This record gives sequence, structure tokens and C-alpha cells, in this order.
Amino acid sequence: MKAIGIIHDEHRSLAAVLHGMLYLVRDIRERGSAPNFDLLSAMVYYIDAFPERYHHPKEDGYLFRLLRKRHPAAAPVLDQLERQHKEGAAKIRDLEQALARYREGGAAGFPGFAAAVSDYADFHWDHMRTEEETVIPMARERLTPEDWKEIDAAFTDHGDPLFGAKAEAEYDSLFRRIVNLAPPPIGVGPAPAT
Ligand SMILES: [Fe+2]
Ligand SMILES: [Fe+2]
Repeated sequence: MKAIGIIHDEHRSLAAVLHGMLYLVRDIRERGSAPNFDLLSAMVYYIDAFPERYHHPKEDGYLFRLLRKRHPAAAPVLDQLERQHKEGAAKIRDLEQALARYREGGAAGFPGFAAAVSDYADFHWDHMRTEEETVIPMARERLTPEDWKEIDAAFTDHGDPLFGAKAEAEYDSLFRRIVNLAPPPIGVGPAPAT
């Protein structure tokens, strides 16, 4: 069941970036810090690319597909989560547009961007919680050792161009870039100008 640990790790990486964005928004609102648009763009890019192209397809294509087969009663929650995977893509577009308006239009664009960040963070936390608290326990109970072999292979297949080592290394380096750009306490980059 290596895949379970990988799903948890991927959720933690995503949560760290979401927390980081909320922190930056609060810092701008409460301390009047200047926005670091390179950092905000890298974060939005990460939460677009990482869940949409890397994390969700593995859940849909392997974990959810096999759980549907072994446990038909899981269908409603899996339908809801797959719907959220699609909704997430639209929410990311909202977030990108709000960031572009903020970057181009200045302070007048801040409230819209702040609202889009908190909307996306709430949405995605709720989604990850349902996966961790409802779906993973069902999967542990219902899936067979053969199912886990197939799921683990998909989550650890280092030869796969979409999910393999190369893709993983790209997301890791993007994550490191965020950590290097972000000011303490969320990263190791320079403190924001006030
Ligand atoms: Fe998901
Ligand atoms: Fe997930």
C-alpha cells in the first residue's frame, strides 16, 4: 500500500503551498507587504499543474476505478470527488484570472485575488479530507492485494512519462523554487518589502 503514503505526501505538499498562499495574502492585507508576484505565480502554477496533471489522474484512473469495482456503495462519494476534480480545474482558472487582474490592476485587484485564494483553499482542503477520512479507509478494507499491486505500480512507476520520475522531479524542483522564493516562516527566501 505504498500508494497511500504517496497520496498523503502529495496532499501535504499541496497543503503547504495553500497555507503559504493564505499566509502571503494575510501579510499583504494586515502588514501592507508588497506582493511578490513571481512567488504568487509560481504557487498558482504549482496548484494548477500538480493536482490537475499529476495527482488527480492517478486517483481517478487507479484508486477510484478499482474501489468502484470492489465496493459499489462507494459510488456516491467517488462521484462527488471526481466531480470536484473537474470543478477544481475551473476554480484554478478563476484563481489565475484573479492573479492576472491583481498583477495588472494593482491594489484594486487584491480583494478578488484574496477571495479566490481562500475559496480554492477551502474547496481543496474539504476534498483532501474526504479522500483521507472516507475513501482511503474504504480502500484499505475492500481492495485486494492484486488491486494494490496495480495501484502501487501506477503511483511508483518511474518509467511512465506522465507520472514517473521525470514528472516527479519537475514538481519537486518547482516546489523547491517556491520554498526559495517564499519569505520566512513559509520558506527561506528574502523577507518581503513593506
Ligand atoms: Fe482528489
Ligand atoms: Fe487527492
